[in-house]
Parts: sequence; C-alpha cells; structure tokens
Amino acid sequence: MKAAVIFLALAVCVHADMYFHNPRGSNNRLDEAKRERNNANRMFDSQNNNRGGYNVGSLYYYTGSVLSLEWTNQHSCADPNNHCEQIVQYTCGDLVRDGATTQTIPDNPVNCVDYDCNNDIEYGMHENYDYYLDCRLRQRNAGLFIADRNLRGKTALFTRQNGNGNRRGYECPEERDYYPYWHPTPWRDVVIFTNDASRCPYYQSESQNVKSRFACVLPPSFLTTDNIRSNKPIIPNTQEGCEEVVSAEGNGTWTEFPPDSRLSAPECIETLWSRDNHLGNTIGGFPISYNWTIPDLTHEHCVLRIRYNISTGEYDGWDSAVNSSIGRTVDSVLNGATVAGQGSPLERRLFSELTDVYERFGFTYDEARERGYVFRQNPVVKVFPDVNEDSNNFGLQLAINTNQFGRTFQDRSHTFAIRARPEDLQDVKIHNLNVRGKRGNIVQVYPGVEYDFVPNRVEMAVDDYIHIQWTGSNTNPNNNDGQGRDGTDRSNVVMLRPPNYPEGDGSAGTASGHWGNSYPAHLDDNTTSLLGLSREDRQNLATLLNMQLGGEMSELDDAGTYYDLGPRKVTRSGTYYFMCSRNNNFSNRSQKGVIIVTETATSQKRIGWSGGTVELNGHTLEFPQAALSTAGQYSIEEFTDKDQLEAMTGVRAVSNGGETVSSYILVSPATQFDSQNGGMAKIVIPVDTSVASGDVTIMRANAASRWEYVDLDTRVEENMAEADTSSGGVFVVNSQINSGLIAGVVVAAFVLLVIGIAFGGLVVYFVVRRDKWQKAKDNTRKFKQKVTRSFARQV
Ligand SMILES: *[C@@H]1O[C@H](CO)[C@@H](O)[C@H](O)[C@H]1NC(C)=O
Ligand SMILES: *[C@@H]1O[C@H](CO)[C@@H](O)[C@H](O)[C@H]1NC(C)=O
Ligand SMILES: *[C@@H]1O[C@H](CO)[C@@H](O)[C@H](O)[C@H]1NC(C)=O
Ligand SMILES: *[C@@H]1O[C@H](CO)[C@@H](O)[C@H](O)[C@H]1NC(C)=O
Ligand SMILES: *[C@@H]1O[C@H](CO)[C@@H](O)[C@H](O)[C@H]1NC(C)=O
Ligand SMILES: *[C@@H]1O[C@H](CO)[C@@H](O)[C@H](O)[C@H]1NC(C)=O
Ligand SMILES: *[C@@H]1O[C@H](CO)[C@@H](O)[C@H](O)[C@H]1NC(C)=O
Repeated sequence: MKAAVIFLALAVCVHADMYFHNPRGSNNRLDEAKRERNNANRMFDSQNNNRGGYNVGSLYYYTGSVLSLEWTNQHSCADPNNHCEQIVQYTCGDLVRDGATTQTIPDNPVNCVDYDCNNDIEYGMHENYDYYLDCRLRQRNAGLFIADRNLRGKTALFTRQNGNGNRRGYECPEERDYYPYWHPTPWRDVVIFTNDASRCPYYQSESQNVKSRFACVLPPSFLTTDNIRSNKPIIPNTQEGCEEVVSAEGNGTWTEFPPDSRLSAPECIETLWSRDNHLGNTIGGFPISYNWTIPDLTHEHCVLRIRYNISTGEYDGWDSAVNSSIGRTVDSVLNGATVAGQGSPLERRLFSELTDVYERFGFTYDEARERGYVFRQNPVVKVFPDVNEDSNNFGLQLAINTNQFGRTFQDRSHTFAIRARPEDLQDVKIHNLNVRGKRGNIVQVYPGVEYDFVPNRVEMAVDDYIHIQWTGSNTNPNNNDGQGRDGTDRSNVVMLRPPNYPEGDGSAGTASGHWGNSYPAHLDDNTTSLLGLSREDRQNLATLLNMQLGGEMSELDDAGTYYDLGPRKVTRSGTYYFMCSRNNNFSNRSQKGVIIVTETATSQKRIGWSGGTVELNGHTLEFPQAALSTAGQYSIEEFTDKDQLEAMTGVRAVSNGGETVSSYILVSPATQFDSQNGGMAKIVIPVDTSVASGDVTIMRANAASRWEYVDLDTRVEENMAEADTSSGGVFVVNSQINSGLIAGVVVAAFVLLVIGIAFGGLVVYFVVRRDKWQKAKDNTRKFKQKVTRSFARQV
C-alpha cells in the first residue's frame, strides 16, 4: 500500500500573540486608521497579528505610584503545554520617541535629516543607531542553537528566529531572542516571570541592572561605509578576539559597561497561568497583570517592553542533560564557540539530527532517522512501530517550524513619562486608574479589547491617592461600533445608581452604586459620592470640563482624547461602582469599574519560590528563598484599635493581663502558608514604646480567636518586634504577661519545644481561658467570612 501523508496543519505563519493592554501596547502602530497596522517592522519585532495594538497611549505616572500592567498572551503560560518566560523591561532616553510616521527609521544616515537618524524626530526610535550598528557589525554568538536553519550572515542580526537578518527599528535580533543578554543594552529589567523559579537566582544575578556587561570597542576608523555595508562580523564578541584587533589608528578595547548603580536586581517570580488559544486571560477571567511600582528615576521619554518566550517540551534550552554546546542557549561563554555542524548545509543537517530529541522517544539515532523523529522542519513521522511493514508505513506530517519551535513574542508601549511627585505627596500611596481598550465590538477590536477601566477593581485605603487618567485615539476604523463620533475613543467616570438590592460579596451595606444598573446616580446624591471627592472633581470626571471648554459634550465628542484629573486624596470608605456614560451600551458593551476603599490599610504582593516581602507602614512579612513551593498572594492589613479589629475580623483583643504595644495586623491567607516547603516567614511589627527584648511577645490568633505565642523567642530591636511564623492570622505584640502565665509559658514552652522539634510543628501555647472559647467561636464565622473575602480578592 502506498504511504499516505496527511497534512495535519499547513505551516502558515499564524500570528496572534502577546499584547499589552495597559499601558497600551503599540504593536508597532502609530495612529493609523486601518484595522491592520501599516508597518510591522517600524520599531521592533513583535511576531504579533497585524490587527493587534493601540494607536496612541502616552500617559505620565508619578514615581512610586502603582501601575497595573495588563497583557494577554495567546499560547498559554504556566501550564504543561510549554516552557514559558515573560520579561518586562523599560528604557528612558532623551531621544526615545514614537515619531510621526509609520515608516521604519532608515539604517542609512544618508536618508535622515543632517545624516543623523538619531535626531531625525520624524521617525520613531527606541534603541539608537549606534546600538544597531554595533549589533550589525558584531559577530553573532555561534554557540546558540540554530536547528537546521540556514543563517544568511555571521553577525548578531542573524538568529534562528531571524535567519534573514531582517531589521525592525534599531532592535538587535540576537538581543531580542535571548535573555539575559550578554552585551550592553539600553533596557532595565523590571520583572521576570518563569515556569521554573529555581532559575530566579541566575536571572537576578545576571541582570544588567546589577552586573556589568563587556563589549569590544573599535576605533571609529573601522566604521567605514564599506565595512558597514559589507555585513561582515568585524566586531569580535570575545575579549580574546577583541584584543587581537590591532591597527595603526588604534586597537580594539574590551570595555566594561557597569550597571546603573541606582537599579537593583529585578523581581523574579513564577508565571501566571493562562489558557492556550483564548487570547490569554487568566483565572477569574481577567488578563494577566502585574502591579509595577514606578521607579524613582524621572524621565519624560520612557517605553515599556514585554517579551513572551515559549518553547515546546522537545526543546528545552535549559536542560543540563542536553549537550550544552547544542542545547543550552543562554550563556555568553559560548560567544567564541564555533560549534560543529554550523557550516555547510550538510553539517547543519547533521547538527540538527544530532540534537537528542530522538533519545527522548527512546529511539536510537538510526531508528529515529528512519522514522522521522529528528528535529527538523515539518518532519513526516511514522507512528506505527514496525516501519518495514508496508501496511504500517503510514506517515503523519507535523507542523514543526524549527525557527519557531522556541519563539519569542514582544509588545512595547507608546512613550510615557515618569514624573516626580508634587511636594505635598511625598509619602502617600498613589494608585493609577486608567482606561484600556479601543472603539469597536469584540470582533472589530480583536486581538485588542473593548473598553475597560484598569484595574477594573481597585483596592485602596482611606487617605491613599488615586490618579485617574486616560488617553485614546481619533483614528479607529470609522465603521467600528461605538457611541459618539465615528472612530473616536472617549471616556468619563460617573457613579452608578444606588443599589437596588444587596449584592453577593457582603459589601452591600457600604456599597455605593450597583453593577447591575446602567443609569448614573445624581451628582448630589451623597450616598454615592465617589471616593469623597469634591463635587467639582466629580463633575469634571463626568463632564471633562476641567480640560475642555464648552463644545458638544453629551457624548463627549468635543473633548480631547487625553484626560487627567491629577492625583486626588480619597477621603471616604466604601465600595464604588461606576461607569463611562458614553461607552456603556446595554446590552452591546459595558464599561464599568469598581473601587473598594477600606478604613484600614492593606498591602499585598504575589510571592513565590524566590521569596519576597510584603510591607505596610513598617510591618513586614518576609519569605526567604525556597520557603514557598508555589506562588501565592500574601497581604497585611493593619487595625489600629481593637474594636476595629473585632468589627472587621471577629477576632477579640488579646486578654492575658498584658498590654498590647502594637497595632493588630491581619496576615492573609490566615492558614498555613505552604505545606510542602514549610513556608516559614519572618514577621516584623513596630512597637510603640521602648521595650526591652524579652518583655514582649508576638502573639497570633487563629480563626477561633485563640491567641498563641508565635515564637517563644520574639526578638526586639529598635522598636521592632520580630518572630517567625508559618501561617497567617491576626498578630499583635503583647507585653507584661503576668508572672503565673510566664511560668506556664516557660514550662509549656519547654515541653512544646520538644514536641515541636519532634513533630516539626509550630510551637504554640494557648493563653485563652476555657470560658472564653465559646465566645471566641462565635467570632469564627465572621473571621472566616473576612478570610474568604481575602481569598476571593486574590483571584
Ligand atoms: C527563550 O528561551 C530560550 C531557552 O528555551 C533561551 O535560550 C532564550 O534566551 C530565551 N529568550 C528570551 C528572550 O527569554
Ligand atoms: C596596539 O597593540 C599593539 C600590539 O599589542 C601595541 O604595540 C600598540 O601600542 C597598541 N596601540 C595602542 C594605541 O594601544
Ligand atoms: C556536544 O556536541 C558537540 C557538537 O556535536 C560535540 O563536539 C561535543 O563533543 C558534545 N559534548 C558532549 C559532552 O557530548
Ligand atoms: C494589584 O493590586 C491590587 C490592589 O489595588 C490587587 O487587588 C491586585 O490583586 C494586585 N495584583 C497583583 C497581580 O498582585
Ligand atoms: C448601542 O450599540 C448598538 C450596536 O453597536 C448600536 O446599534 C446602537 O446605536 C448603540 N446605542 C447608542 C445609543 O449609540
Ligand atoms: C451632601 O453633601 C454636601 C457637601 O458635600 C452638603 O452640602 C449637602 O447638604 C449634602 N446633602 C445631603 C442630602 O446630605
Ligand atoms: C445592541 O443593543 C440594542 C439595544 O440598545 C439592541 O437592539 C441590538 O440588538 C444590540 N446589538 C447587538 C449587536 O447586540
């Protein structure tokens, strides 16, 4: 029987991949009016669908304020489907700009004003010309895995994913494809997400934020037009190579580029789960997000970049079992390598087949070759065991593109500014509230999104500040659905009508506005007075008249695309449901958001294997490396008095005759942090009087209001009490325990210490009297509700 070949999928170039939604990712767009972007090569290589991206997006953020970065990635992350990393970086520079044309900045200075492309502001530019030139003339790292690709050149422009050396803006393709990169780059690291957090120490110590880079600097006489045009690798990529460059005009110098001392190592944490093929929303239906605290480095021209790197299980560039000179691709020590098999086409083929993919299927090399189980372009594999039987000689063609088997996607924001805080806002917490999405229905905007507030749900405390600001475009396609003038994005903020009936999350009592409504509340309805803002501010948010004088504003048409209320203090607690009156069109589209303002301050953070610290007004919860086996959300909430504590958590104040010398704090989750790795964290609580070590103890209440000693060895230094705990709950520092109790503690401590050591459990001592237990039990329900809510919040 003749062998049949089935085409499971044609190797078409499917693009649909990673998009920033806040700040708005450009995907190389610049205010163009078509559904498809004009030029996919304008600034960087995104590998994304031409329909993605937002036209404009420039906002400013105050230093230290919290910005919710939101993005979607189409091919999943943090599931067994692939190896996945996401890397967020930013750069600032006087010449960083969006430009005024959708054409790519020229790579021949002859085509720029005054032969100076760096200063030709017509063109958008992130990396500069000198950076690109260096990449274009530098030897590529020959130790990198290229599979069976035929790279068309020997410089850093040519990689497995960019075999033709195509240019996008002034991006360096080798730098784009590999991280951490071994040469100096203008990018500062913000955060690295990885499926394998054990790599975090490596990423963090190798980050250019904290580690020097070296590069070969040649005398300018080498940069002749002929040399530049030749595409020859004239700049060596190793110290030895560099020092061999000797000429009458000067020698090559292997030069150190030290890190910027103002930076520290980036955060590194487990990736967030997202599902394959569904644009990439995560658990709970929200896009993946990260709360970025804007760095303290002000600049008017910055741009944010995110990369999404995935590879299949057959290709693990990190597996040390793989022959390192073939598989491990991240190491600059391979710079000087001339790996066998990267020369002639025959050698390349051999090299590709030598990679050990076949071993993972349990084949010998000859079997694998016979059956197509080798790592090469679109193989036809024979799945039946007996390949020699004609009837079983059935081949399945796989859609495997060796240039995309490991693949990196990217998006970058439009430029934004990082500004110093106003004098009077030095020590306050500022939350950014923006608008994402663009005009159109779900199909018209895809893979962008419809309008939404970001974050859709803000959590903050009374006396925090909110910075409401958004921008949009006037040039969406004219036939895109939406209210107001065709093609335009506009937003506003109005409170929704008061609740019709209590809503599910228990916040009914304090809720202002109601999700389910579509009519705005009256501006003077004090029960829905948004965040306690002044009437003038509320009016401006609704009418935008602080930025727009007159005009036809019923649908905000005459307003500008940009709106800024400035930072405002939030003075009223409650749950505020609000909407945009223009874009909320029941039941076609919805633009609503919620802000939850609590009387008590809360701080939260996602922490994983690499450890991390939640910090709130001097209180800290600190996990060392490896204390946690997976990443989770941890939070601290502060209660300054015991009535507040009881009202909010149901936990009664500690009553052992001692005196509390700190606030009560709720650490969530209130359960054991991590059963696998122990999850031991250090908790630090400021105490309000000078007390000597030994006089105070940190105590913890569990759900039944039972107060226990967290650790018999509470340390006190400079008004900070410190102890170790492996679970959350309510904590307080207590002093002057009466002597009977102390004796009890000491004896029990000894006994329990022994038991504790024997069983590896938490050493605890219950101080609550029996008769109080019943009462305490009644409070359990309340506490549980609170905890449930604090869990719900994590989702
Ligand atoms: C992508 O992952 C591969 C290993 O699979 C690694 O060699 C490369 O440096 C990564 N690139 C980026 C941009 O993270
Ligand atoms: C360049 O290197 C040569 C050989 O090592 C040395 O003799 C010469 O002084 C160097 N020139 C400069 C400018 O350093
Ligand atoms: C790794 O592969 C290279 C190229 O095929 C080969 O020269 C080298 O001997 C291999 N090393 C090991 C440890 O197998
Ligand atoms: C970001 O902060 C908000 C509080 O405003 C919180 O609700 C949210 O869970 C945080 N997101 C992440 C990913 O930590
Ligand atoms: C609401 O949306 C629908 C569908 O796009 C549209 O036909 C209708 O005109 C919109 N309503 C208003 C008031 O613009
Ligand atoms: C609403 O608040 C304003 C001040 O913000 C006050 O003047 C007015 O009397 C209040 N109205 C009601 C009905 O309480
Ligand atoms: C949009 O909403 C209107 C009611 O305002 C409804 O008549 C129409 O069918 C909706 N259009 C779509 C596309 O859902």
